[in-house]
Amino acid sequence: MKRKIAIMGAAALAMLASVMFFVKPADAAVGLRVSNGRIVEANGNNFVIRGVSHHHVWAPTQTSSFANIKALGANTVRVVLGSGQRWGPSNDIPTIVNLCRTNRLICVLEVHDTTGYGDQAGAATLDQAATYWIGKRPQLAGTENFIIINIGNEPMGNNAGVSATWPTATSNAINRLRNAGYEHQLMVDAPMWGQDWQFIMRNNAQAVFNSDPQRNTVFSVHMYGVYDTANEVTDYLNRFRSANLPIVVGEFGHNHSDGNPDEETIFNHTQANGIGYIGWSWSGNSGDVAYLDMVTNFNPNQLTSWGQRFFNGTNGIRQTSREATWYSGVNPTTTPPSSPPPVGQRYEAETAPAVCQGTIDSNHTGFTGSGFCNGNNASGAYAQFTVSASAAGSRTLGVRFANGTTAARAANLIVNGSTVGTVSFEGTGAWTTWVTKNLSVSLNAGSNTVRLSPTSATGLPNVDHLTVG
Ligand code: GCU
Ligand code: CA
Repeated sequence: MKRKIAIMGAAALAMLASVMFFVKPADAAVGLRVSNGRIVEANGNNFVIRGVSHHHVWAPTQTSSFANIKALGANTVRVVLGSGQRWGPSNDIPTIVNLCRTNRLICVLEVHDTTGYGDQAGAATLDQAATYWIGKRPQLAGTENFIIINIGNEPMGNNAGVSATWPTATSNAINRLRNAGYEHQLMVDAPMWGQDWQFIMRNNAQAVFNSDPQRNTVFSVHMYGVYDTANEVTDYLNRFRSANLPIVVGEFGHNHSDGNPDEETIFNHTQANGIGYIGWSWSGNSGDVAYLDMVTNFNPNQLTSWGQRFFNGTNGIRQTSREATWYSGVNPTTTPPSSPPPVGQRYEAETAPAVCQGTIDSNHTGFTGSGFCNGNNASGAYAQFTVSASAAGSRTLGVRFANGTTAARAANLIVNGSTVGTVSFEGTGAWTTWVTKNLSVSLNAGSNTVRLSPTSATGLPNVDHLTVG
């Protein structure tokens, strides 16, 4: 019986996907989007979510939490909202949008009323959540660079028959939002209280992803007691990564009534693989799960032990979170100016408008600025700088890089769109040994782009900065 329902669901979804394909080809998304199975910003920078859930609908006056969470280093807040069936309806979207923007946060807005539908009396359906979002669309238009819509929290419980409808119900909700004009990145939670312990989301993720005409849906698993061993954590996440499907750990804690999650593996494995995570939660948890508060009474000066671990521990927020570059772009005056070395101007690989087709990392010491570009190990995965010259003419570019392997990595040097040479980045002995390679190029007066585009599958070395002499 269970099986039969699941198969029918998949068949219906496949039909829907093929109809969508012929009627409406994939549109180019605006703002945050999915590229190659990862979340990227409009400028192509990888954005790795490092965030915290905040109980906005239950604590609507605690608006200072946005700034407090930001001050502890998070780049994302997941905002709990109500669609009116159990909580809310949350009608203060403009206030929330403002709080996100002014605090330079990516916000994941979520409807909580869907939690445990099928098990939980009074819970909303994904369709009801979609109706709520459609009503809020006018207030959210234009926020695609910093708002992600998480359609419904943990939208089904452990009822197998109900959770089997997850692929179709999720796909239908996505398509209702798209038909209403939403171009935002969408996030969808797994069934079975978010934990997907029967792998319904995992096994149907590709079909659901393909059913989004914008191919801009991110999958979110919540890791509590089901994920109490390292292998369960890594296996689940690895399957999405190897299928090139975007996955985040959208909730997790250090403990829970259903078991003891392996949070150390969650921190380490997500960081090693460029996967986003959002911890549950800032403050205000009720008695039985009060230990999941990161701070006591919404007071940022009173970190609990979970809060200490989450913000200040290994691979926690402080060590790994990077602000979305979209904010550096919209408000250049707040970007720390790169301190120019005695000769020439220095351009950091991690600072917009520089583009890194990879991740901005900081795990190998010795870099300047706040990090370096770890390009994807793929041909064409480039690092690009935008440099200015006071007058046209020949200049010496200094590329500071590290290559901890023994094999040289080759790249095309592309200035203002033309390939002007090739560069070989030899092994430097260690990833922490940075050396500068000088290249002679001719620049135009004014702005120029300098792109290093690797010509083999090993990609670029790690790139720290570029100087123009
Ligand atoms: C290692 C290293 C990275 C580097 C990568 C590579 O993973 O830690 O910093 O970018 O190798 O081979 O490119
Ligand atoms: Ca690399």
